[in-house]
Amino acid sequence: MSLVLDPAAQDLLFREARTANTFTDEPVTEEQVQAIYDLVKYGPTAFNQTPLRITLVRSAEARERLVQHMAEGNQPKTASAPLVAILSADNEFHEELPALFPAFPQAKDVFFAERPAREGSATLNAALQAAYFIVGVRAAGLAAGPMTGFDFEGVRKEFLDDDHTPLMVVNIGRPGPDAWYPRSPRLAYEDVVTTV
Ligand SMILES: Cc1cc2nc3c(=O)[nH]c(=O)nc-3n(C[C@H](O)[C@H](O)[C@H](O)COP(=O)(O)O)c2cc1C
Repeated sequence: MSLVLDPAAQDLLFREARTANTFTDEPVTEEQVQAIYDLVKYGPTAFNQTPLRITLVRSAEARERLVQHMAEGNQPKTASAPLVAILSADNEFHEELPALFPAFPQAKDVFFAERPAREGSATLNAALQAAYFIVGVRAAGLAAGPMTGFDFEGVRKEFLDDDHTPLMVVNIGRPGPDAWYPRSPRLAYEDVVTTV
Protein backbone atom coordinates (compact mmCIF):
# COMPACT_ATOMS: atom_id res chain seq x y z
CA MET A 1 0.00 0.00 0.00
CA SER A 2 3.01 2.31 0.35
CA LEU A 3 3.76 2.34 -3.38
CA VAL A 4 1.53 4.37 -5.67
CA LEU A 5 2.75 2.64 -8.85
CA ASP A 6 0.28 0.10 -10.21
CA PRO A 7 1.29 -3.43 -8.99
CA ALA A 8 1.37 -4.72 -12.59
CA ALA A 9 3.85 -1.97 -13.45
CA GLN A 10 5.91 -2.84 -10.36
CA ASP A 11 6.10 -6.44 -11.63
CA LEU A 12 6.95 -5.36 -15.18
CA LEU A 13 9.75 -3.05 -14.09
CA PHE A 14 11.19 -5.00 -11.16
CA ARG A 15 9.66 -8.10 -9.57
CA GLU A 16 9.12 -10.11 -12.74
CA ALA A 17 11.73 -8.36 -14.88
CA ARG A 18 14.81 -10.48 -15.42
CA THR A 19 18.18 -10.21 -17.09
CA ALA A 20 17.74 -12.09 -20.37
CA ASN A 21 20.42 -14.37 -21.76
CA THR A 22 18.57 -15.56 -24.89
CA PHE A 23 16.25 -13.70 -27.25
CA THR A 24 13.65 -14.34 -29.93
CA ASP A 25 14.41 -12.87 -33.36
CA GLU A 26 11.57 -10.31 -33.12
CA PRO A 27 13.17 -7.01 -34.15
CA VAL A 28 13.47 -4.04 -31.80
CA THR A 29 12.37 -1.03 -33.81
CA GLU A 30 13.74 2.49 -33.97
CA GLU A 31 10.35 3.68 -32.67
CA GLN A 32 10.68 1.50 -29.56
CA VAL A 33 14.18 2.78 -28.80
CA GLN A 34 13.05 6.35 -29.33
CA ALA A 35 10.09 5.86 -26.98
CA ILE A 36 12.42 4.37 -24.36
CA TYR A 37 14.85 7.28 -24.63
CA ASP A 38 12.08 9.88 -24.61
CA LEU A 39 10.90 8.41 -21.30
CA VAL A 40 14.19 7.84 -19.50
CA LYS A 41 15.79 11.14 -20.53
CA TYR A 42 13.86 12.66 -17.62
CA GLY A 43 15.85 10.66 -15.04
CA PRO A 44 17.92 13.06 -12.94
CA THR A 45 21.66 13.75 -13.35
CA ALA A 46 23.95 16.26 -11.65
CA PHE A 47 23.52 19.72 -13.18
CA ASN A 48 21.27 17.92 -15.69
CA GLN A 49 24.49 17.01 -17.50
CA THR A 50 22.98 13.88 -19.17
CA PRO A 51 26.33 12.41 -20.26
CA LEU A 52 24.95 9.05 -21.48
CA ARG A 53 25.51 8.32 -25.16
CA ILE A 54 23.95 5.30 -26.87
CA THR A 55 25.43 3.53 -29.89
CA LEU A 56 22.93 1.17 -31.52
CA VAL A 57 24.74 -1.72 -33.17
CA ARG A 58 22.39 -2.65 -35.98
CA SER A 59 24.41 -3.79 -39.00
CA ALA A 60 25.71 -7.37 -39.21
CA GLU A 61 29.18 -6.03 -39.91
CA ALA A 62 29.22 -3.86 -36.77
CA ARG A 63 27.76 -6.69 -34.70
CA GLU A 64 30.60 -8.95 -35.77
CA ARG A 65 33.16 -6.31 -34.79
CA LEU A 66 31.53 -5.94 -31.36
CA VAL A 67 31.26 -9.66 -30.64
CA GLN A 68 35.04 -10.00 -31.03
CA HIS A 69 35.52 -7.69 -28.04
CA MET A 70 33.03 -9.50 -25.79
CA ALA A 71 34.09 -12.04 -23.16
CA GLU A 72 33.66 -15.57 -24.48
CA GLY A 73 30.57 -16.29 -22.35
CA ASN A 74 28.90 -13.12 -23.61
CA GLN A 75 29.56 -13.70 -27.31
CA PRO A 76 26.61 -15.97 -28.28
CA LYS A 77 23.97 -13.67 -26.77
CA THR A 78 25.60 -10.54 -28.17
CA ALA A 79 25.65 -12.20 -31.60
CA SER A 80 21.99 -13.27 -31.45
CA ALA A 81 20.13 -10.45 -29.63
CA PRO A 82 17.84 -8.48 -31.98
CA LEU A 83 19.43 -5.23 -30.84
CA VAL A 84 22.64 -4.40 -29.00
CA ALA A 85 23.45 -0.99 -27.53
CA ILE A 86 26.83 0.30 -26.39
CA LEU A 87 26.29 2.73 -23.52
CA SER A 88 29.07 5.24 -22.98
CA ALA A 89 29.82 8.39 -21.00
CA ASP A 90 30.61 11.60 -22.90
CA ASN A 91 33.52 13.21 -21.04
CA GLU A 92 32.99 16.42 -22.98
CA PHE A 93 29.38 16.82 -21.76
CA HIS A 94 30.28 20.27 -20.41
CA GLU A 95 29.97 21.75 -23.91
CA GLU A 96 26.19 21.24 -23.67
CA LEU A 97 25.96 22.31 -20.04
CA PRO A 98 25.01 26.00 -20.47
CA ALA A 99 22.02 24.90 -22.56
CA LEU A 100 21.14 21.92 -20.36
CA PHE A 101 21.43 23.80 -17.06
CA PRO A 102 20.45 27.39 -17.82
CA ALA A 103 19.90 28.10 -14.11
CA PHE A 104 23.70 28.16 -13.66
CA PRO A 105 25.48 28.24 -17.03
CA GLN A 106 28.80 29.00 -15.33
CA ALA A 107 28.90 25.41 -14.04
CA LYS A 108 30.77 24.46 -17.19
CA ASP A 109 33.80 26.53 -16.15
CA VAL A 110 33.40 26.52 -12.37
CA PHE A 111 33.15 22.73 -11.91
CA PHE A 112 34.07 21.04 -15.17
CA ALA A 113 37.01 22.94 -16.66
CA GLU A 114 39.35 20.01 -15.89
CA ARG A 115 39.06 16.69 -17.68
CA PRO A 116 39.49 14.48 -14.54
CA ALA A 117 36.53 16.22 -12.87
CA ARG A 118 34.46 15.69 -16.01
CA GLU A 119 35.39 12.02 -16.27
CA GLY A 120 34.36 11.27 -12.68
CA SER A 121 31.07 13.08 -13.04
CA ALA A 122 30.35 11.66 -16.50
CA THR A 123 30.95 8.08 -15.33
CA LEU A 124 28.69 8.42 -12.29
CA ASN A 125 25.87 10.19 -14.09
CA ALA A 126 25.97 8.10 -17.27
CA ALA A 127 25.85 4.98 -15.07
CA LEU A 128 22.71 6.39 -13.43
CA GLN A 129 21.24 6.96 -16.88
CA ALA A 130 22.21 3.44 -17.92
CA ALA A 131 20.09 2.16 -15.03
CA TYR A 132 17.18 4.36 -16.15
CA PHE A 133 17.67 2.97 -19.66
CA ILE A 134 17.44 -0.64 -18.46
CA VAL A 135 14.21 0.14 -16.61
CA GLY A 136 12.95 1.93 -19.75
CA VAL A 137 13.63 -1.18 -21.84
CA ARG A 138 11.47 -3.10 -19.38
CA ALA A 139 8.77 -0.43 -19.61
CA ALA A 140 8.61 -1.17 -23.35
CA GLY A 141 7.83 -4.81 -22.54
CA LEU A 142 11.32 -5.89 -23.60
CA ALA A 143 14.14 -7.56 -21.71
CA ALA A 144 17.64 -6.16 -21.25
CA GLY A 145 20.88 -8.05 -20.80
CA PRO A 146 23.48 -5.58 -19.53
CA MET A 147 27.13 -6.70 -19.71
CA THR A 148 30.47 -5.36 -18.56
CA GLY A 149 32.31 -8.50 -19.63
CA PHE A 150 34.13 -7.04 -22.64
CA ASP A 151 37.41 -5.39 -23.64
CA PHE A 152 36.68 -1.75 -22.78
CA GLU A 153 39.67 -0.32 -24.61
CA GLY A 154 38.91 -2.47 -27.64
CA VAL A 155 35.28 -1.29 -27.77
CA ARG A 156 36.33 2.32 -27.25
CA LYS A 157 38.79 2.17 -30.14
CA GLU A 158 36.42 0.25 -32.41
CA PHE A 159 33.24 2.31 -31.90
CA LEU A 160 33.98 5.46 -29.87
CA ASP A 161 36.80 7.97 -29.41
CA ASP A 162 39.02 9.40 -26.68
CA ASP A 163 36.18 11.59 -25.39
CA HIS A 164 33.87 8.64 -24.68
CA THR A 165 34.22 5.97 -21.99
CA PRO A 166 32.29 2.73 -22.57
CA LEU A 167 30.15 1.72 -19.58
CA MET A 168 28.26 -1.37 -20.64
CA VAL A 169 26.89 -3.27 -23.60
CA VAL A 170 23.17 -4.10 -23.42
CA ASN A 171 21.39 -6.85 -25.34
CA ILE A 172 17.74 -5.95 -25.96
CA GLY A 173 14.78 -7.98 -27.17
CA ARG A 174 12.04 -10.39 -26.21
CA PRO A 175 13.29 -13.23 -24.06
CA GLY A 176 13.87 -16.53 -25.89
CA PRO A 177 13.91 -20.12 -24.62
CA ASP A 178 15.74 -20.68 -21.29
CA ALA A 179 16.38 -16.96 -21.07
CA TRP A 180 16.97 -16.81 -17.35
CA TYR A 181 19.52 -18.06 -14.87
CA PRO A 182 17.91 -18.93 -11.53
CA ARG A 183 16.89 -15.75 -9.69
CA SER A 184 19.62 -14.87 -7.21
CA PRO A 185 18.71 -13.67 -3.72
CA ARG A 186 18.69 -9.96 -2.87
CA LEU A 187 19.90 -8.37 0.34
CA ALA A 188 17.16 -7.68 2.87
CA TYR A 189 16.18 -4.17 3.86
CA GLU A 190 17.80 -4.55 7.29
CA ASP A 191 21.10 -5.66 5.70
CA VAL A 192 21.27 -2.53 3.57
CA VAL A 193 19.55 0.30 5.35
CA THR A 194 20.83 2.02 8.44
CA THR A 195 19.20 4.98 10.09
CA VAL A 196 21.20 7.52 12.00
C1 LIG B 1 26.46 -3.53 -15.05
C2 LIG B 1 26.13 -4.99 -15.27
C3 LIG B 1 27.08 -5.81 -15.85
C4 LIG B 1 26.79 -7.17 -16.09
N1 LIG B 1 27.70 -7.92 -16.79
C5 LIG B 1 27.33 -9.17 -17.18
C6 LIG B 1 28.17 -9.92 -18.07
O1 LIG B 1 29.23 -9.47 -18.51
N2 LIG B 1 27.74 -11.15 -18.43
C7 LIG B 1 26.55 -11.69 -17.98
O2 LIG B 1 26.20 -12.82 -18.38
N3 LIG B 1 25.74 -10.99 -17.16
C8 LIG B 1 26.10 -9.75 -16.75
N4 LIG B 1 25.25 -9.01 -15.95
C9 LIG B 1 23.97 -9.61 -15.51
C10 LIG B 1 23.83 -9.75 -13.98
O3 LIG B 1 24.51 -10.88 -13.52
C11 LIG B 1 22.32 -9.85 -13.67
O4 LIG B 1 21.70 -8.65 -14.09
C12 LIG B 1 22.04 -10.04 -12.17
O5 LIG B 1 22.55 -11.27 -11.72
C13 LIG B 1 20.53 -10.00 -11.89
O6 LIG B 1 19.85 -10.98 -12.64
P1 LIG B 1 18.25 -10.99 -12.71
O7 LIG B 1 17.85 -9.68 -13.32
O8 LIG B 1 17.90 -12.13 -13.61
O9 LIG B 1 17.72 -11.15 -11.34
C14 LIG B 1 25.53 -7.69 -15.70
C15 LIG B 1 24.58 -6.83 -15.11
C16 LIG B 1 24.87 -5.50 -14.91
C17 LIG B 1 23.78 -4.61 -14.34
